[in-house]
Amino acid sequence: MDLEVVDNYSVMSEIAANLVAGLIQEKKNAVLGLPTGSTPEGMYAHLVEMFREGIIDFNAVVTFNLDEYVGLAPGHPQSYHQYMKNKLFDHVNIKQENYNIPYFHDKNDPGKVCEAYEKSIKAAGGIDLQVLGLGVNGHIGFNEPAPCLHTSTHLVELTEETVKANSRFFDSLDQVPRKAITMGMGSIMGANKILLLVSGEKKAKAVRKSFRGLISTENPASFLQLHRNLVVILDREAASLL
Ligand code: GLP
Repeated sequence: MDLEVVDNYSVMSEIAANLVAGLIQEKKNAVLGLPTGSTPEGMYAHLVEMFREGIIDFNAVVTFNLDEYVGLAPGHPQSYHQYMKNKLFDHVNIKQENYNIPYFHDKNDPGKVCEAYEKSIKAAGGIDLQVLGLGVNGHIGFNEPAPCLHTSTHLVELTEETVKANSRFFDSLDQVPRKAITMGMGSIMGANKILLLVSGEKKAKAVRKSFRGLISTENPASFLQLHRNLVVILDREAASLL
């Protein structure tokens, strides 16, 4: 594991963007695993800037998002579909057929939807670089702390803690979806390289538990320690309890 502590969010975002950009320059058809949330916003802004400056080209890049809420239409302002369009996809030349976001609608068969997502990742040749954020309770994607974890893409019931943490993006707590679809721990750990970004004091406990504690399904991020090519970039606040 390569764990780097940097001064602040802005430095973290720049380093992350440079890492992603380096991969895209090296491999035009790179397959990226992408997160949502506040953490990667700065990284996406840098990537958009680099695209505008002609430093990187998304024409052949393929992406797979980690997760999505169940019950929000793709056009809903808080859906991860919309987030990705706002932060990245609408501003770069990625082809629509090359970006993938899991989506579950009540009328679909959950098993089939999840299986199809896993198949598309395999068909793309697997994920070259999986970028991750960290939940305050140690969740990764929407793999929530639990007595056991799923390997592949699945539907999940969100914990109260996550619903509360994510309610800042919604007008009220009841508007936050209680269910989501997420890549599983196996889908994530299958990536060639993982880049975990963590910023802010409120994540410090989760960071400590993930990298200084035992590996436990009650702290999904702790499994990342087992990955052979893991880069963790923390700002000082997130690293304050290490
Ligand atoms: C959300 C997302 C995760 C994200 C995490 C942290 O619930 N499902 O993919 O990494 O929580 O979010 P944030 O970066 O906003 O703190």
